[in-house]
Amino acid sequence: MSSTLTVTGSTRVYGLIGHPVRHSLSPSMYNTLFARFGIDAVYVALDVHPENADQVADAIRTLDFVGVNLTVPFKERVMPQLDRCTQAAVEAGAVNVVTSVQGTLTGYNTDGEGFSRSLAEEGGPSIDGASAVVLGAGGAARAVASTLVDRGAARVTILNRTVSRAQATAEALGGDVAWGGLTVDGFDSAARGAQIVVNCTSGPARDRVACFDPSVLAAGASWVDINYWMENPPLQAECQAASVRFHDGIGMLAHQGALAFELFTGHPVSGAEIRQILIAGLR
Ligand code: ATR
Repeated sequence: MSSTLTVTGSTRVYGLIGHPVRHSLSPSMYNTLFARFGIDAVYVALDVHPENADQVADAIRTLDFVGVNLTVPFKERVMPQLDRCTQAAVEAGAVNVVTSVQGTLTGYNTDGEGFSRSLAEEGGPSIDGASAVVLGAGGAARAVASTLVDRGAARVTILNRTVSRAQATAEALGGDVAWGGLTVDGFDSAARGAQIVVNCTSGPARDRVACFDPSVLAAGASWVDINYWMENPPLQAECQAASVRFHDGIGMLAHQGALAFELFTGHPVSGAEIRQILIAGLR
């Protein structure tokens, strides 16, 4: 952060609740924005042990946080403690933003909207009518898959190591969502001719994803890897060789952050502005 932070008794407090949170870019991102827009607020990262998950909502109320972001492993676990959740959060089965108004907690999910805005901004294919494959079935995968369904994707397939989890996610989303295992054969048949693939598996799945062949996708297809922090995300070079547009997760992170910032402060900010701050923080 370039400017000095002044905290007084009236400074509003925001935070990130997760485990771990040490490498998060959120504190520097939000504090830079608060300084830039002259907002008297501060954002802190809070490493909360998972065994205290049941007390997270009470802590938000008791400590008078105006808003918090939730990350692993709290996105799903805190949901039942909130007073209300948006439809996007319910469909995703996960909350990444919580606002508190006089102790009433509302849960939002900005991942799916952040994904679709960044795909459009980065010149990706239209979701409407597309055939899409989602790798993974965690909270981020559910948010992305539900957005694909809501925005009119013609076909969505969820592939996951634990097939029963892929099936449960597909069934929860309703419609025509297909599912399968995270295997080379499963990928080849689901992704053949598809326009969009979104890798929502986490870091340890890297080697398995690296075995897939992006050249089976349609011409002009997009491959999005939401793991923005990965130095060498799997298949980046292979996508480029196959003329498949590769999107790192920075765009999605920027747009979900812009949406969260507006929910927190009422102050609009563009995804491009946040992207600049994030890229500076990653250097
Ligand atoms: P989030 O909520 O942030 O999306 P998550 O719920 O931990 O994160 O989901 C991680 C995803 O990566 C899951 O789809 C997980 O597969 P399982 O449901 O089978 O656990 C996937 N994943 C994690 N490690 C993996 C590995 N070594 N191989 C394959 N998939 C893996």
